[in-house]
Amino acid sequence: MKQKTLWYCSSCGNESPKWMGRCPACGEWNTMVEAPAEPKTTAKGSRSAVMPSAQERKPLRLGDIDNAAEARVSLGLPEVDRLLGGGIVPGSLVLIGGEPGIGKSTLSLQIPLRSSLHTLYVTGEESARQVKMRAERLGAGMPGQAENVGHDKTVIADPDRQSIDIFCETNIDNVIAQAAANPPQLMIVDSVQTMFTPTMDSTPGSVSQIKEVAAMLLRFAKESGVPVLLIGHITKDGFIAGPKILEHIVDVVLQFEGENRGSYRILRSIKNRFGSTSEIAVFEMTGAGLREVANPSEMLIPMHESGLSGAAICATLDGTRPLLFEVQALVSSAVYGTAQRSATGFDARRLNMLLAVLEKRAGFHLSAKDVFLNMAGGLKVSDPAADLAVTCAVLSSNFDFALPADYCFAGEVGLSGEIRPVAQTDRRIGEAARLGFKKIFVSSYSSFDAKATKGIQVVKVADIPALVKALFK
Ligand code: TYD
Ligand code: MG
Repeated sequence: MKQKTLWYCSSCGNESPKWMGRCPACGEWNTMVEAPAEPKTTAKGSRSAVMPSAQERKPLRLGDIDNAAEARVSLGLPEVDRLLGGGIVPGSLVLIGGEPGIGKSTLSLQIPLRSSLHTLYVTGEESARQVKMRAERLGAGMPGQAENVGHDKTVIADPDRQSIDIFCETNIDNVIAQAAANPPQLMIVDSVQTMFTPTMDSTPGSVSQIKEVAAMLLRFAKESGVPVLLIGHITKDGFIAGPKILEHIVDVVLQFEGENRGSYRILRSIKNRFGSTSEIAVFEMTGAGLREVANPSEMLIPMHESGLSGAAICATLDGTRPLLFEVQALVSSAVYGTAQRSATGFDARRLNMLLAVLEKRAGFHLSAKDVFLNMAGGLKVSDPAADLAVTCAVLSSNFDFALPADYCFAGEVGLSGEIRPVAQTDRRIGEAARLGFKKIFVSSYSSFDAKATKGIQVVKVADIPALVKALFK
């Protein structure tokens, strides 16, 4: 009998009985990959081996459920603990996704080095010697037993004194057997794409293997109470089935982002069953591993006093955390007939919209100008509050007029040139005040707590002409 196969979208995990050029669920092109349909018997067999049988399980009264097990375990990196909602929950499966080379293995080795948890570190990608060399490199920058690194409480201990067991294995059945026989306090699996279970015929990294490996690890975590960190590669081309298809299986998804050439990395929580999402933690890749950046705004604000045109500071909110950074624009006369527009870290269509608003509602002739836009630190910004700073940076470069370095901006720009209020204005004002800004420009329609405005002047602007009048006249 011919084996039945299914098609899966490597971007969102959508299933389809036939091949399609475009995934109907997420709209991505060329992402469908073929995989054997999971044989019902094996899947069931492996499940019943670890799960209690049907008779044993009964519903529980809500009041009778003991939630003491929800106590959190610290991973030794305060920023990662905060991202998880105050440490890792025992028995949870946490996926760390990111492009190759971004620092997933580095982070996952730094966790046991700093937390002193008894860890089983399973690697299908590196040899034990490579892991050891990396551990030494991570410990090398910190002579002696303890040293403060970036964060007050961060301590790196001597790698040789930690109880970290390195297990070079790709057969997930062996991994789970090993972990069940000698349960560690934390298990790390690097990476889901290299693991496989021999109960399935498909190759490691295929959709069905990835799903089964994750499901097996989830069952192991839930049964044993051991928290598991699972690493998954994301590739842009979509040929390797990505962590997207695992998002609904795992408890927490943390995604590593950042420009590969820059040294800043952002770890973003995009799903969290035990805490809030859209939180971020910022790291800097150094010669001795990742350093936590406890105050990202401080690093993203330039050192120069003022005097440079084309720069404006934006007060955004990433998750619940206010983040201030510099927006840079360069406006120059177009050399060729058609003007060029380019945006790094900002939506290019949104830039075009803002330029059209400036042209139509405020009478600036920008259509014959090249406009280049850049967000500091390799950030990707999607907060609409960045509109106002982008507009100001463009105008500042256009007039070659430098904005005072202690001004910052938070507002959305509408199609009729009006400045619209943005969420949580108080927190943005509070952060700007804390960092020593003297003026923050917000929408006239914003409402905020007067307490937040201590030490800072809040300037309300209704539309683009009012903004121009307040700044450039
Ligand atoms: P790695 O953690 O191996 O990435 P991933 O597991 O996500 O593929 O690390 C990637 C890069 O980080 C690599 O190019 C080397 C660099 N690196 C440092 O700059 N400093 C360090 O201390 C370490 C361990 C790595
Ligand atoms: Mg790696």
